[in-house]
Amino acid sequence: MAVATAETPAKSQPDRKHNIEAMRQDYYARIAERGMKPLWTVMSSLIPDEPVSRAAPALWHFGDVKSLVMESGGLITAEEAKRRVLILENPALRGESRVTNSLFAGIQMIMPGEVAPAHRHASSAIRFVLDGEGAYTAVEGEKAFMSPGDFVITANWAPHDHGNTSDKPMIWLDVLDVPAVNFFETSFAEDFDTPTQATTREDGDSLSFYGSGVLPDGAPAINRTPIINYTYARTRPIVERLMHAGDIDKSHGARVRYANPINGGPVLPTMGANLAMLPKGFRGEPYRSTDGTIFVCAEGEGSTDVDGDVLEWGPNDVFVVPSWKRYAHKASKQSVLFSISDRPAQEALGLWRERR
Ligand SMILES: [Fe+2]
Repeated sequence: MAVATAETPAKSQPDRKHNIEAMRQDYYARIAERGMKPLWTVMSSLIPDEPVSRAAPALWHFGDVKSLVMESGGLITAEEAKRRVLILENPALRGESRVTNSLFAGIQMIMPGEVAPAHRHASSAIRFVLDGEGAYTAVEGEKAFMSPGDFVITANWAPHDHGNTSDKPMIWLDVLDVPAVNFFETSFAEDFDTPTQATTREDGDSLSFYGSGVLPDGAPAINRTPIINYTYARTRPIVERLMHAGDIDKSHGARVRYANPINGGPVLPTMGANLAMLPKGFRGEPYRSTDGTIFVCAEGEGSTDVDGDVLEWGPNDVFVVPSWKRYAHKASKQSVLFSISDRPAQEALGLWRERR
């Protein structure tokens, strides 16, 4: 056995080539003590060649959601909870209160006679009404009474409260840009002293004033829509007419984009939404885009293949397609799909991409 001596060091110690990994690890440990890390060890995960979503495809059946959210009606009042909402947690992001990487989604229920008290926050919110009739959202002085399929906007810092003057529970999908706002660490919120805000406008005023091809003279240019409620009664006949006119996208069906009538842009700077009608027997071509998207089946029945995961949907089911996952819709009945994503925020930053 060779014994290292002062005269034979080169034979007993590994040369630089064979010892380089140990030298690197020693170096990494020393720079870590000074709060640094080598970029070359994390480069490929930090800057992947294509988007890699942390989120998973997922679907919530309305039958399950409804019975569970109804059960919460006996456990806590809307006033006590402030908002009686069950968060839709993406199964790959449990505990993070998000359904995509940038968006929160929840199912809210308000019982007859209840009030969800007035507040405001930096996060923008939308509601897509699933079940019930006649509860209201009061936003910026307008009390919008809601019906299934209505799409209601509560912009950044707009005071809002909800009440149910009907005799049935009302259930809707809430989507908020909370994870995006918290990413920027820009969340502010406040409650008001009175549970309901004074309203000065009639139900439907904002849709009539701004959503009819004319604008109030001198309407200020703002980067989000002044319309409170894009009613299903107004929007559904448009997608139906579009479908009958043959204007059917090969991936999305006969689809319209909810627009800010002031500038034609998205309804909110952080979130944009669409409504699409798929003819019976529709077989959509595969599509992908960088905006993780939440879908609601407003009517009909079908399925969406998301990179091999098949999500079977029916009325009021909610499902999510993560960023850059290839998906294709099929409709076994004539169907209407609502969808919402963070596409406007990505477009504003020059990041949004799609591939067909
Ligand atoms: Fe709110």
